[in-house]
Order: sequence, then C-alpha cells, then structure tokens
Amino acid sequence: MQKRIIPVLKAIFLIAAAGAVLVISGCRSGTPAAGTRIDDPHSFSRPWEVTVTELTLDLNIDFERKVLSGSAAWEIKAAEGAPQLILDINNLEIDRIMLQPGGSIAKYTVGAVEPILGQPLTIELAPETESVVVYYSTKPGPSALDWLEPAQTAGGRHPFLYTQSQPVLARSIFPCQDTPGVRFPYRATITVQPGLMVVMSAENPQTKSDDGIYHFTMPQPIPSYLVALAAGDLVFQSLRPRTGIYAEPEVIDKAAYEFAETETMLEAAETLYGDYRWGRYDLLVLPPAFPIGGMENPRLTFATPTILAGDRSLTALIAHELAHSWSGNLVTNASWENLWLNEGFTVYFESRIMEAVYGHEYDQMLTTLSLGKLYEALDRYGWDHPDTRLKIDLDGRDPDSCFTAMAYDKGHMFLLHLEQQLGRERWDEFLNGYFDTFAFQSMSTEKFLEYLDAEIITGDQELAGRLNIDGWVYSPGLPETFPKFHSSMLEAIRQQADDFSAGGSAADIDTSGWTAHHWLQFLRQLPDSIGAERLVELDQRFQLTNSGNAEIQFDWFRLSILNEYAVAYPALEQFLTSVGRLKFIRPLYQALRTTEAGRVMATRIYQQARPGYHSAGWKYLDPLMGYEPANPAAK
Ligand code: BES
Ligand code: ZN
Repeated sequence: MQKRIIPVLKAIFLIAAAGAVLVISGCRSGTPAAGTRIDDPHSFSRPWEVTVTELTLDLNIDFERKVLSGSAAWEIKAAEGAPQLILDINNLEIDRIMLQPGGSIAKYTVGAVEPILGQPLTIELAPETESVVVYYSTKPGPSALDWLEPAQTAGGRHPFLYTQSQPVLARSIFPCQDTPGVRFPYRATITVQPGLMVVMSAENPQTKSDDGIYHFTMPQPIPSYLVALAAGDLVFQSLRPRTGIYAEPEVIDKAAYEFAETETMLEAAETLYGDYRWGRYDLLVLPPAFPIGGMENPRLTFATPTILAGDRSLTALIAHELAHSWSGNLVTNASWENLWLNEGFTVYFESRIMEAVYGHEYDQMLTTLSLGKLYEALDRYGWDHPDTRLKIDLDGRDPDSCFTAMAYDKGHMFLLHLEQQLGRERWDEFLNGYFDTFAFQSMSTEKFLEYLDAEIITGDQELAGRLNIDGWVYSPGLPETFPKFHSSMLEAIRQQADDFSAGGSAADIDTSGWTAHHWLQFLRQLPDSIGAERLVELDQRFQLTNSGNAEIQFDWFRLSILNEYAVAYPALEQFLTSVGRLKFIRPLYQALRTTEAGRVMATRIYQQARPGYHSAGWKYLDPLMGYEPANPAAK
C-alpha cells in the first residue's frame, strides 16, 4: 500500500510544483508596471531570481516552552547563475542551513529587523543546489502563533495553539518567500504531545494519533499566508460527504448544529462559479481568543466561536470563507495592495451564495447592513482620501491597513455594478472564465482590468462609459452610478427605532419575526446619546445584556458604554476578557476611553486581558490603551 502511494504523491507534487513555476511566470506578465518582477513591497524575497517550488516542514510543538522547532526544506528553482535565495523571517532563531544535494552547511546572513516585515534571510547557494533545509525555532513575541493556556479553551484542561498568518506573519512560522505572488505545495510532519490533535490547511486526520505524530499533504500550490496550523483537544464530526467540523468536544455539537448547512453552501458556490478544487471543505472552531471572524485556510476554514449564536444567524461568515476557495485561494491577489481582488470578490460571491441558499430578501438585508458600515468608513476617512480607492498604495506601510470596508464593501459594490450593467448571465459567464483561466495564479488589478477589457469591453465605448472602471477602481469615494438597494424589512425597523428614540415605549416595539440582523438594524439606528434610562427599558423588556449573540452584544455594549449603563458592565468585562475578536474589542476599548470612569475600567480590564489576545492585535490595542509593555515580547 505504502509503496503505491508514494509514487502517486510524487507525481502530484511534480505537477503541482510545475504549476507553481507557471504561476510565477504568469504573475510576471500580469504586472506590467513592474516589468518582470513580482512587485510586492512587503517581502524581502526576489522570486524572479530564485523561487521556492515545494515545502517540507518537520516541526515539533513544545507547549511547555511555547516553541515550534524543527526544519523547513525548500525545493528551489534558480535563474541561471543566481547565487542567493532570500527568504523572509520574523522572530525566528536560525540554527543552521544545509544545502542539498551534498549536505553542505550553507553560509547565510540575517538582515536588520524591520518592524512589520521582519528580516531577510539570505542564503548562499551552490551551483548544484536543488534544495535548502533551514533548521530553526520560533521566538516569543509578535507572531502568527498564538499559544493558549488551558483556561482559554472550552475544556479548560489542555493547551491550544493556532496560527493566523494573513497578511505577513507566515514568516514567523517558517522561513518563506512571504508574498502572495509565490505558490507552492507542501508536506508536513508535526509532532505534539500525545492526546492532542493537529490540523493544517491540508489533508487532515479525523482522529487523534497515539504517538502525537501527524503527517500532512497539501498537493495544490498555495501562497505562504495560507499555510495554517492548529493543535489542541480536537474532535472531528462529519456533516455531509465533503464537509465536517473540528472543535473541542465541548463545542462540537453546537458547532455541528450551527454549520449544518455548509455543504448546501458549497453546492450553491459550485453551481455559481465552477468546481470546488480542494477536496474536502472542513471548519475548525477556535477558542474565543481568535482575533478575527474567519480565515480562509484552504480545506479548513478557521472560525471564531462568536458566530455560534444557536440559531444559524451568523453563518454568512462561512459563506464568505468558503467563497475564498475561488476568490483568493484559487485566484490570489498578487500583493496586499490588490486585496480588493480577494475580499471584494469574496463579499460579492458570499452574497450570491446567501441569495442562492436563503433567498433574495435575506441577502438584501445583509448587504444593506454592511453598506451602512461602508458609508461610516467613508465618512471617517473623508470621501476624497486616497485610501478609499480600490487599489491603494501600501509602500512603506503596514499591509494590515488594507483590510478596510473599501476592499470589502466598495469592492463588492463595484462587482455588483458590473453585474447590473452587463446582466447576470453574461457576468457569471465572465466570472466562471476568470476563475478557470487564472486558477492557481496571482492577479493584479491591472491584469484583471485587462482581462475584463479583452473579454467584455472589446472596444465598445458606450459600454466602457457605463462601466466607469476608472471611477470605481482608481478614484476615491463612490461613483454616482451606485447600485440601489432596498430592504423593506429594514425600513420598517428603522421606523420603530426612530419612534422609540422619539420617546415611544419599549412595550410598543413589535419584534415578531425579528432575526439577529433586525436587532442590529434597530440598535444601530438608535442615537449614541440615547441615555441610560432608555437602555434600562429596552433591557428589561428584551434582556439584551444577556444576549447570546455576539453581534448584538457588541452593539449593545457599545451603546451601554456610551450611555454609562452600568448594568451591562459585568457582561462587558466577561466579553472583553474572553473574546479576542478585534472587530469587537477594539471599538469597545475605544468607546470606554471616551469617559474618565471608562478609561479606568478599560485599563484594568486590558491589563488582565492582554496576554490572552493574539499578538497581532497588540499593535492596535497597546497605543489605544497607552500601554507600554515592560517586555514587549512577553505574552
Ligand atoms: N481574509 C479575511 C481574514 C483577515 C482579515 C485576515 C483581516 C487578516 C486581516 C477573512 O476572509 C475575512 O474577511 N473575515 C472576516 C469575516 C467576513 C465575513 C467579512 C472577519 O474576520 O471578520
Ligand atoms: Zn475575506
């Protein structure tokens, strides 16, 4: 059996590696402004000289020391005479580097530390070098790795480790060409203390191993930011043939109920934009410290438990991460300046999945709610701010700053505008062709627009005028021809919120048929200065402080803080000390900082909660809280 599998695996790897090289050349031709280079300001690597083609990881997880150590072996392909391979690293301790064939020890240098980007690791190659093996270990400090104490898990008995790499933290897990323009298949052997399960963005085990050793294969070429790993007291539960869930035993039943419709979403997605190309689609439910809602790690979406609302009301997030299996994971933004190609396409695709599975009205409601956030963001930036363009300039900046409502919701609106101008049929056919033509390749804004031009516009000036590409992509704010929305459900709620704000009674609010989203619409419509007495009334009638829905809790806590409604504070404190999702906790801390009493409370809570947050959040939270860590590296 073993003997038969190995040649097959090898063949898969060879094909995939060839794909990775093709991707590089595809990317070159698609970035006209940069000539033959991959133009990524957030990587030290020079893949046009030497590119990595295949990765083999062999790592040990040491929960005691909170260290990942072992080796990363890279197959490489060098241009004629290229003497050096440059990899990105961040917070890694390099032990030694070996060249193959031959097994000689390589000379290498580690460059100066740059705050967001880490360091270049420059390895001297021999003319015959086919692969380099880097022996290394991780260091404490800002990193993709989040080591959780047992107390931060649902079970409370075992530690937990997970990674969150996007955009530029893969380099803190293993040395790599950490740019989304480089793809590679990978294999991994990961060792952990017996009793825990390890999962990756790869073919995964479904049961725990006796010896704590796990083997992984990811045959399709993916960029570094999609290499992901988690270890903990996990169990697997199958949902339908291609979908299942990993979670702690305490959470698995709730998760299986919440996400029961995942395969239906997968089928809807395939009907829209072609075959799912990654084999299985599973979900991993993380402990609440997870800093984001969801991460589209291939084959295994990582998800926050804050979407376990008990009523399936927050599962659009799954549709979103699933959609990335096409937009993002299959066709990938060439650099973070092109993030809207990942996120804007994905929000559009997410909405199409939601419409297909739950109907037009429900989807309109969700879109209308997120549009509110887009307008809010535009007002905050200023409508003529350069960062409100779809393609933005990130030279010398933290790539995290591109994850804005522009990439997501303005991107979505642009694609919806194209759909409305072209008609669904033609647009869907175009998108199908797009995903197929550029599968496993990276994509720049210019390359996408060239393709749109060649496939759709083809010299039609009248059409070009209507599409107004420059207005959408390269201009700030929003063009005048903006897709129109109407959600009659939300309109009715707006009226009720206005009536209540104008002095109406809580007893008169008719909440029959309301979903969580109706509640969000209602709460967001209330004025920030509504006053604590009115919140008392609402809380007495609707028990909002005890809501089990994290989105509702968030809006409610925000209002409670702004109006110093102290009844909600114990629940707020509980929320801030367990949930690490930045989308929630950052604005809550911000709101607390607006009053003197709030400041004191926020400082106290932050002291206690900070070690439990993923280090990626510290760079936002520390300055916000005026916190200066005694030892910046310490958790
Ligand atoms: N790719 C993002 C996750 C991400 C966001 C990574 C920011 C790094 C920085 C993911 O697909 C995403 O957008 N998640 C959203 C949920 C989605 C429904 C909008 C999130 O985490 O809130
Ligand atoms: Zn996304």
